[in-house]
Amino acid sequence: EKGSFAHFMQKEIFEQPESILRAMQGRIEFENATAHLGGLNLDRQELLNIERVKIVASGTSYHAGMVGAYLLEQLARIPCTAELSSELRYRNPIVERNTLYFVVSQSGETADTLYAMRELQRKGAKVLGICNVVGATIPRESDGGVYTHSGPEIAVASTKAFTSQLTVLYLFSLFMARMRHMSFEEGLALVQAMDGVPALLQQVLSRADSIQELAEKYSYARSFLFLGRGINYPVALEGALKLKEVSYIHAEGYSAAEIKHGPIALVNEETPSLFLVPNDPLRDKVLSNMKEIKARKGPVIAIAVEGDREVAGIADDVFFVPNASPIVYPFLLMVPMQLLSYYMALILGHNVDQPRNLAKSVTVE
Ligand code: M6R
Repeated sequence: EKGSFAHFMQKEIFEQPESILRAMQGRIEFENATAHLGGLNLDRQELLNIERVKIVASGTSYHAGMVGAYLLEQLARIPCTAELSSELRYRNPIVERNTLYFVVSQSGETADTLYAMRELQRKGAKVLGICNVVGATIPRESDGGVYTHSGPEIAVASTKAFTSQLTVLYLFSLFMARMRHMSFEEGLALVQAMDGVPALLQQVLSRADSIQELAEKYSYARSFLFLGRGINYPVALEGALKLKEVSYIHAEGYSAAEIKHGPIALVNEETPSLFLVPNDPLRDKVLSNMKEIKARKGPVIAIAVEGDREVAGIADDVFFVPNASPIVYPFLLMVPMQLLSYYMALILGHNVDQPRNLAKSVTVE
């Protein structure tokens, strides 16, 4: 039930410090600076033999998969790509040796993802699931997998399921990295960064009011750009998807670097751009992308890191998130965008939990 919240989407956004904790519970080993995930059904040798990982999913789960691909490559140095279930299935996919497949699905019932999994299995692939709904078809038919333990997600727009999927992908990447080249110290730094995420998110959520003000200021917009780079590029895609789904405002997610290759033509005084500006090695590049938009009179909103005065000097509005280890910014940058979409939908008078034309689980192709 909704308890003291007005909507399930609101409840599920605010629940994330706890749901992320649930996804981590019992899975982090501080003493070995690694993670363990029960249901992988792979022995030591099979794990060591993995040369490639492919992540298959749809919608929000696909965006989580894209973050996961970045993590596996950066942390574990294992080549990894994410792919849309609906595309993979009809491509007569090539199943290569020593490749591990993950399907990611909150519901565990998405037809596109289920059929893609069956096709991969038919071709001899080992497919693991990252699912939320216990006992759903995908976890039953997969060759193993990990539950996200977010608890029931009722709102059609996925919020807490996304951050739990991320959590599992971080843990898996940590585990694979520690079996390979990652040092104890690096592993410990990552474990500590992950451990700190729930409390940092609590701080972000305590400032939801200022996101509500931003939603009021920008609710006039008919079109929005969401821009991020690196690990936060898929996070920008997810921000755009959230806005579309619940507020019906046209939104495009793009790599901040890619806008000059076309989408910048959309920019005018009425088309806001929301930039994700973590303090990571790509920050300066993002700042110059921001200036390009300002030079064309586009309103700029930034989600940046506390103390970043330079960003505040360029953007029209900034929402600050706490300083953190760069690797965990996807969590901290995502939640303000979820809140923005939620408030926009309310301001515009839409049914936030059940947006038009959408179903919680898409069981048709
Ligand atoms: O249950 P799944 O994670 O497989 O669902 C995949 C998509 O249908 C889902 O993420 C959809 O995009 C959501 N409405 C996003 O909020």
